[in-house]
Amino acid sequence: ADESENTDQRLKEVCELLQSSIGYYDWVGFYFANEVEKTLHLKAFAGEPTDHTVIPFGKGICGQVAVSNQNFVVPDVKAQDNYIACSITVKSEIVIPLFKNGKNIGQIDIDSHMEDPFSEEDERFLEWVNEEVANIL
Ligand code: SME
Repeated sequence: ADESENTDQRLKEVCELLQSSIGYYDWVGFYFANEVEKTLHLKAFAGEPTDHTVIPFGKGICGQVAVSNQNFVVPDVKAQDNYIACSITVKSEIVIPLFKNGKNIGQIDIDSHMEDPFSEEDERFLEWVNEEVANIL
């Protein structure tokens, strides 16, 4: 396999490991930015397939993180108006930007079927995951 297939495979393994080992991580995916088109593109995921493989900057929780460069924790998705629903079973979401050489190049997105499960511990853990992932990109 060439280098990019290798990276895609490793990203998928990270998604599968997180989704299978943490009970309230029901869907785990990595989106990466296309700076020219101003869109996010789903590169790897674990969980149910989603229709939202391309998301414009600014749209939904993911699109907002592409422009804010900030963690976004959503304890209750029903309380958000700029939100893209992937599944009616999703109750909460966390999106953490992924930085490479100080630049926001993408993000990890996690959906949960549980209400308000994400703590600062998840934020610190997922920031660390993203740092590790940045090293294989
Ligand atoms: N809910 C996200 C869209 C991506 S799906 O969760 C996989 C959002 O509002 O950006």
